[in-house]
Amino acid sequence: MTLQLSLNTGTPESTDTPCAIVGVFTNGVLSDAAEAVDKASGGAIQRRMKAGDINGKLGSTNTLFELEGIKAGRVLVVGMGVHAELDAGRFQQACLAAGKTASDLPVVAATSWLGTLDVPGKDAEWRVRTEALAFDHAAYRYTATFKADAESREPKFRSLALTGTTDAATLDTARAMAEGVRFARNLGNLPPNICVPAFIAEQATAFAEQHDGVDVEILERDQMAKLGMTSLLAVARGSRNSPRLIVLKWNGGAKGDKPYAFVGKGVTFDSGGLNLKPTGSMEEMKFDMCGAAGVLGGFVAAVEMKLPLNLVCVVPSVENMPDGDSYRPSDVVTTMSGQTVEVLNTDAEGRLILCDALTYTQRFDPRAIIDAATLTGACVVALGNHATGLMSKHDDLADELLAAGEATLDRAWRLPLWNDYQKQLESAFADFANIGGKTAGAITAGCFLSRFTEGQRWAHLDIAGTAWESGRKGLASGRPVSLLAQWLMDRCA
Ligand code: BES
Ligand code: MN
Ligand code: ZN
Repeated sequence: MTLQLSLNTGTPESTDTPCAIVGVFTNGVLSDAAEAVDKASGGAIQRRMKAGDINGKLGSTNTLFELEGIKAGRVLVVGMGVHAELDAGRFQQACLAAGKTASDLPVVAATSWLGTLDVPGKDAEWRVRTEALAFDHAAYRYTATFKADAESREPKFRSLALTGTTDAATLDTARAMAEGVRFARNLGNLPPNICVPAFIAEQATAFAEQHDGVDVEILERDQMAKLGMTSLLAVARGSRNSPRLIVLKWNGGAKGDKPYAFVGKGVTFDSGGLNLKPTGSMEEMKFDMCGAAGVLGGFVAAVEMKLPLNLVCVVPSVENMPDGDSYRPSDVVTTMSGQTVEVLNTDAEGRLILCDALTYTQRFDPRAIIDAATLTGACVVALGNHATGLMSKHDDLADELLAAGEATLDRAWRLPLWNDYQKQLESAFADFANIGGKTAGAITAGCFLSRFTEGQRWAHLDIAGTAWESGRKGLASGRPVSLLAQWLMDRCA
């Protein structure tokens, strides 16, 4: 469940809340809200600043209890960094830190004044929405597979009142986006023995059943075979968990209006297949369905916002496993598009399922197609964990997506899809190969996909570095749900 959000207009000293949240800067600079608390409490914040307990460093948090003259049970003082340096990214960082501290406190609710701070270039609606999403992100706990103490792992913290705007629509947007992000994170975090293709299909079906205006269709192996999705089915062959093609439709626009289309890579586990991944590279490959989770989350957000547009979401979902019936390196498969592909590496499986899904998606005559995929380790090498790789031959579409990423801080960075790179896919035995060699791996993967989107307004998001936080305790991030949701919102404006 997402945090309950509400709007607050009260003052920090007189508001009845278990926890009042105010910002301070370095060098003893107080925000207006912190100033109000300080005055009413006879200098409680200033004293602690002088003593050095509170220093205003970005993301630092201090909790002060039962201050004289303050109605709130506690005041959470959040470091916003150097006053002159506060920008969108730092604002979000401070909100994440505040959200983390709040969700570790034994409080059920808090009221925050961080949204009243000035952030250059950003309006009040942006600040409140960003704050709400940051708090919801920080308050997220994965609990699905803890049996013994699942409940105690849930934060007590359930509701947040935000100051800074009186526009209720801002909260509706934040709520919808938070729903979408949570949907993606929950799906991404589940272990691969639970989150199999049929499970993702069930989640999509359940969502469709609970929401008016949403249709769902699930295609199984036989139906995909009839459509000629030999490439997708080749990847699926090594697994006992049968594949699914999930198709969701949101009919929020006029009947007959061309839809926007999302396509997401749903490899529920990527062992590499016969080109088996080595120890150390395989453990995190349950997250290889985060493209699917991301586009489904974007879809959820669009539906929760009831956006006045039509949207289709296509998710090819398979498991990539070694088996006596696995597809092999050097197999040649015929894709649904009719083009043949020489499989030179069974670990480059994502593009082999996406190609058929991209071909299938064109039957909806979409306005634009955006795919999201944890497609290449090369993208992580190029951009690290901060930027999603964006590839498109359409400058206008690329710019729209870059802007949506910038606005939500779910940022992407563009890589070229020049024809010069296409040569790397040449094959002696098929129309082209599924790998492009050592260099520019993210781009040659994009080039591969581009061969299945000729004539379409299409963009590709490689989220291999951004979809989850790596490491033992790393969780799914929910990216690129906000980017996708913002992009759709912008299409309605
Ligand atoms: N799912 C992986 C990409 C990946 C790797 C995502 C690491 C996140 C972290 C993908 O299916 C894959 O294995 N790609 C190969 C492609 C190569 C064989 C051309 C890769 O990146 O090594
Ligand atoms: Mn792979
Ligand atoms: Zn993969």
